Amino acid sequence: MSTTHDPRAWVYAALLTLERESLRSADTHLLRLAFPGFPDIAFYFKDEASHPSGSLKHRLARSLYLYALCNGRLREGQAVVDASSGSTAISEAWFARLLGLRFTAVMPASTAPGKIRELRRLDAQCDLVEDPACIPDRIAAHIAEGACFLDQFGLAERATDWRGNNNIAESIIHQLAREAHAEPTWIVCGAGTGGTSATIGRYLRYRRLPTRLCVAEPTGAAFAEGWRSRDRSACATRSTLIEGIGRAQVEPCFLFDVVDAVEEVDDAASIAGAWLLRDRTGYRYGGSSGTNLVACLRLAARMRAAGQGGAIVSLLCDRGERYEQTLFDPAWLATHGIDLTPWRARLQACIVAGGFPANDVV
Ligand SMILES: Cc1ncc(COP(=O)(O)O)c(C=O)c1O
Repeated sequence: MSTTHDPRAWVYAALLTLERESLRSADTHLLRLAFPGFPDIAFYFKDEASHPSGSLKHRLARSLYLYALCNGRLREGQAVVDASSGSTAISEAWFARLLGLRFTAVMPASTAPGKIRELRRLDAQCDLVEDPACIPDRIAAHIAEGACFLDQFGLAERATDWRGNNNIAESIIHQLAREAHAEPTWIVCGAGTGGTSATIGRYLRYRRLPTRLCVAEPTGAAFAEGWRSRDRSACATRSTLIEGIGRAQVEPCFLFDVVDAVEEVDDAASIAGAWLLRDRTGYRYGGSSGTNLVACLRLAARMRAAGQGGAIVSLLCDRGERYEQTLFDPAWLATHGIDLTPWRARLQACIVAGGFPANDVV
């Protein structure tokens, strides 16, 4: 009698491993910050940096592995590859190690050294490309060698269960249940793949909530350009130093119709925002968390000017330690022509007096 090897046995074991990891994990904190200039507005920041793999991409990586496994695309012993500006790769490498798989991240060579170090610590391969335009060719080469392509940019919005299953939006709304403003006026997030904004925007409608969704975007990036004109061929008019968001082109998972506003934030303001978060919370978060903070302050200033109170919720997306040699290093900032001094003063004045965080924005 011959015994046949059932390839599904490994898939089911891998699914069980992911379910166990999920059960062992706690939800992330929804931190409340108070700014004296906005006494009638409650600010909440969801600490996604506290996931075991350090960013909001922990949720996405778990979903992408589940999606690949349940679609029969990922088999025992198969190599795994994805394109990433770092945070997704770190989370995907973290799960690859859990599942006993080899992971390769195809990333721009300019990615923060702290992220590359973390990937190597997780035994991941880093395939660094000087020109980001070459990333699709590198991915194709890995697929040709048999790797499973997790494809965060192509699949983020459909791999996530937007109706619930403890997605980020469901978690936020649940955590606000006993607050004075259980239905926030705004939720603010960035767009990299567009998966997070798609999930939140859909969930707000699904739950019939009045909350509006704002995407915080580096000035001149593609989501902002495309959202205004509903043009999927729009390209960024500027590059950005903020990793994870501010894409050069409109990604397949960007859903324009679930987004109510886009706030464009200059890089220096975003970085000053990350420094302000460090001062207020005692912890470091990355540049996109600073982008979110500045967008929140602008929305709050408009609410205050209109005599409106309420709640604004946003995300602390990844750990700031990853950017110790970049965004938190004055010498690095100087070589990139960033002077934080005026922005730090403006943001400080804003949180104290409740005005707009920039002279030019109303
Ligand atoms: C580091 C980082 N990566 C990615 C994103 C965007 O998430 P998504 O890929 O779901 O659009 C963010 C969002 O703010 C982020 O901070």
